[in-house]
Amino acid sequence: MIIDWSKEWKQYLESSRWTQELKKKGITNEDFWDGYKLGDRHEEYNQLTGYPGRILDRMLKFVGSESAVLDIGAGAGAYTIPLAKAARKVTVVEPSRGQVARMMRRAERDGLENIYVINKRWQDVDRAELESYSLVNAAYCFHMPDIREALQKMLDVTTGALFLVSLVDHGITDIYEKVFGEREHETEYIYLYNVLHQMGYPANVEVITRNYQIPLEMQMEMLKSSYDFTPALEQRLMDHLAATGRLVKRENGDWVKRMYKDGMIWYQKD
Ligand SMILES: C[S@@+](CC[C@H](N)C(=O)[O-])C[C@H]1O[C@@H](n2cnc3c(N)ncnc32)[C@H](O)[C@@H]1O
Repeated sequence: MIIDWSKEWKQYLESSRWTQELKKKGITNEDFWDGYKLGDRHEEYNQLTGYPGRILDRMLKFVGSESAVLDIGAGAGAYTIPLAKAARKVTVVEPSRGQVARMMRRAERDGLENIYVINKRWQDVDRAELESYSLVNAAYCFHMPDIREALQKMLDVTTGALFLVSLVDHGITDIYEKVFGEREHETEYIYLYNVLHQMGYPANVEVITRNYQIPLEMQMEMLKSSYDFTPALEQRLMDHLAATGRLVKRENGDWVKRMYKDGMIWYQKD
């Protein structure tokens, strides 16, 4: 049996927790990111969690002072800002105005004037709006139902390397199941890898594990952006965190132990 991975992807995306959550709230992807409260603490969060860390180091190998770089779904600029410090220019494709504003505040603070924003979803960007790039990065931004077309457009503008960064394991499957009563689906990096492979691009893949701690209130803020908490649900979560040894008492309050696995898929042209 031949599996059509791009068809599987469409079904996976449609039934994913993320898509179902947006539907339930009656909001678009852009609405969610525009109003994402933790967005303003994005830099602090990334520092605590060690993201993008080693993934960024790998990407920087493809960037020199004359390079043009494309950052798709750039968000608040976790990659954009360091890439703009190394490259001649970084073009960003980001549909959320809220995220663009967060990123541009950081760019201004760091005196960066080489970031160009296309305020659209990747699937709505015309090839004529793009150039060729020595590095193309798409990280955690795959709300793209027609994935084959989306990946082909990325490959068409890549002269050096295409990086796709996506979820392998967020380390809290048990919380989704036991506390929120939700069943987890497979994670997306497998689909992305297989679609690329089926398109004739056998890529490299590496799974990167991060172990870190974040303040409990930060973890709660993140979960609250997706779930309506009742006191009973909050208690159930706290009990589960304690029972699984994830709560850590530190001088400055309660922290949560986390583990996260990112999938780094990269395809180098010629
Ligand atoms: C989780 S953030 C990731 C930000 C950044 N790439 C990172 O890894 O830190 C997801 C971002 O992807 C953007 N995004 C989602 N779907 C997209 C699409 N179809 N095209 C472009 N960007 C998209 C969202 O607006 C959001 O800012």
